[in-house]
Amino acid sequence: MTGKVIIVTGASSGLGFEISKYLAEGGNDVVLACRDKEKAEDAVTKIKTQYPSALVQSMELDLCSSSSIRNFSKEFMRSKRKLNVLINNAGAFVKGKNHSPELTSEGLECNMSSNYFGHFLLTHLLLDYLSQTATIDEESRIINITCRSHNKIGRWYQKDLESLDPNNMQLLKMDTYTDKQAYKNSKLCSVLFTYKLADEVKAENVTPGKYYKNGRPSRSSLESYDLELQRSLWKNSCKVTGIRGSMAAGAAFDNLSLKD
Ligand SMILES: NC(=O)c1ccc[n+]([C@@H]2O[C@H](COP(=O)([O-])OP(=O)(O)OC[C@H]3O[C@@H](n4cnc5c(N)ncnc54)[C@H](OP(=O)(O)O)[C@@H]3O)[C@@H](O)[C@H]2O)c1
Repeated sequence: MTGKVIIVTGASSGLGFEISKYLAEGGNDVVLACRDKEKAEDAVTKIKTQYPSALVQSMELDLCSSSSIRNFSKEFMRSKRKLNVLINNAGAFVKGKNHSPELTSEGLECNMSSNYFGHFLLTHLLLDYLSQTATIDEESRIINITCRSHNKIGRWYQKDLESLDPNNMQLLKMDTYTDKQAYKNSKLCSVLFTYKLADEVKAENVTPGKYYKNGRPSRSSLESYDLELQRSLWKNSCKVTGIRGSMAAGAAFDNLSLKD
């Protein structure tokens, strides 16, 4: 991939940083969307030191703040001519205190907010823009980075977790919260969202949502194919983020291989 405009969320470290560096090296115009300005600038400097002609810039984005997400989207659309790829990579495993969920200033559970709701809102705000680019460059892509642990039956937990409860997705009901369940829910929501999004844009002639594991199309958890759950989540997410339901397509990745 070369010559594309690409946003990578959570690009200040880890996978997001490596993805950004790889894409910049390949001749793409990469926007590192990060919540910490200093870390973001450090990341840009590191990439530019290694690849002086790299087209990289940082922009502020806190996925736990709807105003930050809205400002980011507005600013991005003002400054760039197109958007080929949105990589929803940022993620956090937030441990609540005393078995209670940690909440954002907007009252959302932190794992769900940073890993899922924030990306849901961001994706919707940039959707038209992605779609317009697709009419010029033939395609655009949305990539959601998820995790193997979106499956309730996972080695990571040492024991099985609960299915996603459509009436208690953020585990805010008394005595239902555990940090691992919250993280699992947030990552499952990314996969459910990926499939539902693809379904919503069928008519738009966009590549349908796929799940990749170790760089290959694969099967996600049984729960993620539950159409009723996908619908409930969509409805709930629109309500939480104040979006009126829209469309786009995407892919969910766990263990993204940079060579793929
Ligand atoms: N590492 C693994 O073994 C593994 C396995 C499966 C899936 N994943 C997934 O892969 C993705 C990247 O993980 P990683 O290991 O590279 O993690 P990481 O090194 O901890 O990086 C996470 C990035 O997300 C950013 N971030 C967190 N909350 C944010 C928010 N509210 N707004 C904006 N940015 C935020 C962090 O910013 P700050 O620097 O400001 O904290 C950081 O840049 C995540 O989605 C993770 O769930 C990781």
